[in-house]
Amino acid sequence: MKKSRILGVGHYVPERTVTNDELSQLMNTSNEWIIERTGIESRNWFTPGVDTVTNMSKKASEMALERAGVKAEEIDFIVFATISPDYFMPGNGVLLQHELGMGTIGALDVRNACSGFLYALSVADQFIKTGMYKKILVVGAEIQSSALDKSDEGRSSSVIFADGAGAAILGAVETDQPGILSTHLHAQGKYVEELYCKDPGSSREVRISQELVESGSFFLKMNGNMVFKHAVVRFMEVIQEALDTNRYDKSEIDLLVTHQANLRISQYIQKQLNLPDKKVFNNIMNKGNTTAATIPIALSEAWEQGKIKDGDLICLAAFGAGFTWASALLRW
Ligand code: UT7
Repeated sequence: MKKSRILGVGHYVPERTVTNDELSQLMNTSNEWIIERTGIESRNWFTPGVDTVTNMSKKASEMALERAGVKAEEIDFIVFATISPDYFMPGNGVLLQHELGMGTIGALDVRNACSGFLYALSVADQFIKTGMYKKILVVGAEIQSSALDKSDEGRSSSVIFADGAGAAILGAVETDQPGILSTHLHAQGKYVEELYCKDPGSSREVRISQELVESGSFFLKMNGNMVFKHAVVRFMEVIQEALDTNRYDKSEIDLLVTHQANLRISQYIQKQLNLPDKKVFNNIMNKGNTTAATIPIALSEAWEQGKIKDGDLICLAAFGAGFTWASALLRW
């Protein structure tokens, strides 16, 4: 048996920064409301014709490869988490594989929204533990801003979602080495319509029509309040599950990196776990909520800022559309 360890992390966000004041010109909102209710001051949105999910994820992957000291040709497999692939089909993993010149290695897409990166990490971890692959590129990348209804009607979602890409290189190590201790995955499809993008769905005669476009069913729809209430409960459960499985106490966590959906959610979890500020990493203030890209971007930034050191106990947790939620506990 082997264990998997994160060897390097990288990220990329589009150059265009969108401030709350800019959003106030598009919809009935304000800098004060957004900061008070979400903690977000600015976010990055893609520029059409410049940024793609593929080229952003390529940049993030190259950074992760360099930091890991791993060459592209050493990668055995790609797991790509996104709900916003460049094409409706196939997925984004194959596009990245081609761009990085990774021959004919397998490329798998994971569509689990905000929990996508942790689902992808868990899949990659299993492949490494069984000995099937030695080095896997795990990516989370999204362009969410093109799915947003930037009118008053869509304002509660439009102010939080953003674009970007993050990547991690997972490598096989001996079981006595630091690495991923456990991953925990959950879902509850009953709540799918509380946060979803209905179209272009396949179960209709014509996937795209003027009528459908005008109905607004291509926009991301979120019942923010409902999602918030479930998120705070599930985050706590899945973090506790990871701690219990490995017989750790919450006080032993060196750094908690949660999916960045709303600063109030992160602060609630921090308070429940009684963790000091230095043990919690938040970047929602200037990155917004980048769905599957959030956790790898946050990990990459935390590492850059010297907030993650070898041997640290890191707890990752996410909650989002599906509903799906997940956690991972690892020794860096
Ligand atoms: O990443 C995937 C998982 N997603 C999440 O975890 C998101 C969880 N939900 C949230 O973060 C919050 O629910 C939101 C940020 C989306 C909304 O904040 P909220 O504090 O739950 O606001 P609300 O939906 O309860 O709305 C409160 C009021 C309403 O007005 P009335 O009915 O009280 O007059 C809304 O119309 O705030 C209004 N409102 C806004 N006002 C200014 C909603 N969005 C905005 C806005 N600007 N952008």
